Amino acid sequence: MKSRSPAAGELLGLQPNGSPIAGPRRHVLDLDDFTTSEIRNVLESAKGMSEVLGRDIKKVPALRGRVIVTLFYEASTRTRISFEEAGKVLSADVINMSSSGSSTEKGESLLNTGLTIQAMGVDVIVIRHPHSGAPYLLARCLDRVGIINAGDGIHAHPTQALLDLYTVNEKFGTLEGLKLVIVGDVMHSRVARSNIWGFARMGARVVLCGPSTLLPLDMLQGREKLGHDHPLASVEVDTDLDRAIEGADIVMALRLQSERQNAGFLPSLREYIRRWQVNDARLGRARDGALVMHPGPMNEGIEISSSIAHGDRAVIEQQVTNGVAVRMALLYHLSGVQPSAPELGDTVKDHSDGR
Ligand code: CP
Repeated sequence: MKSRSPAAGELLGLQPNGSPIAGPRRHVLDLDDFTTSEIRNVLESAKGMSEVLGRDIKKVPALRGRVIVTLFYEASTRTRISFEEAGKVLSADVINMSSSGSSTEKGESLLNTGLTIQAMGVDVIVIRHPHSGAPYLLARCLDRVGIINAGDGIHAHPTQALLDLYTVNEKFGTLEGLKLVIVGDVMHSRVARSNIWGFARMGARVVLCGPSTLLPLDMLQGREKLGHDHPLASVEVDTDLDRAIEGADIVMALRLQSERQNAGFLPSLREYIRRWQVNDARLGRARDGALVMHPGPMNEGIEISSSIAHGDRAVIEQQVTNGVAVRMALLYHLSGVQPSAPELGDTVKDHSDGR
């Protein structure tokens, strides 16, 4: 007997009346302006998208006729490919653009590039840029395009944090009360900054760990004055990983950027590995069943041992897989399409039958 195809409304995060579960949002710039219910809604939509990705024919017409540009001024493997896949599975037209080979090389400014792309009728720009704040400039100056921040400088990487939240929620069924230890170069990590907002907002206990020179003490200064309900108020800092990892539910290792050593942030690589590498001995102090995460790309043997990176507690590949579903959910919510649930139900069903 054929199993019941979920209605597309369920898959795509629509309420029974056909409107999106998440509230209207034009841009995804960071998680600091996401409410708990908005985060929950994105995770719920991503669950439906993940079901689409599990089908033989991974294609639904939800974004047919929409145009997405990925505009990358920095290298990427995971984020860029997953956005392209996400758009294509939803039937959008996806155009990839790198700064190299574009008119940026002739001196065109980011703003003029954005205005040019907008003039071509593009619906969503997914931007990665080495300068913190670049996506905000586009969001402020372009009035007909949704902007998704795919990583800006050391500031934010909200879609990575959402896929991390999704991965943990999928494993534990909750985020509240879990102890997350983020270890490594937290200060220069946009992934860490967005995860601090996301996990703390969802009620997790967030502990930041690493050499004191690589901890974002400026971000946390004065947090005791923020009030108990502020997400950052409860964030903890510890330079001793053996102590911080005690009872952890999730250990997230961050890439150590080699230039930090030359800049005097670290005593030596050997010392760093000895004190802050996530390895078997250390993980023994975490809770049974603790998850190990890494946003990638990894320096195996530095911030994480190979046995842990490829061991049964690591969910690093699941993070990548879930990235496609989460980005599908975000593209869908930003696209502005408001089809009725029954229409989508028919078309999704047609495709799932392979017709
Ligand atoms: N996590 C992440 O942003 O990876 P990429 O740089 O490969 O996109």
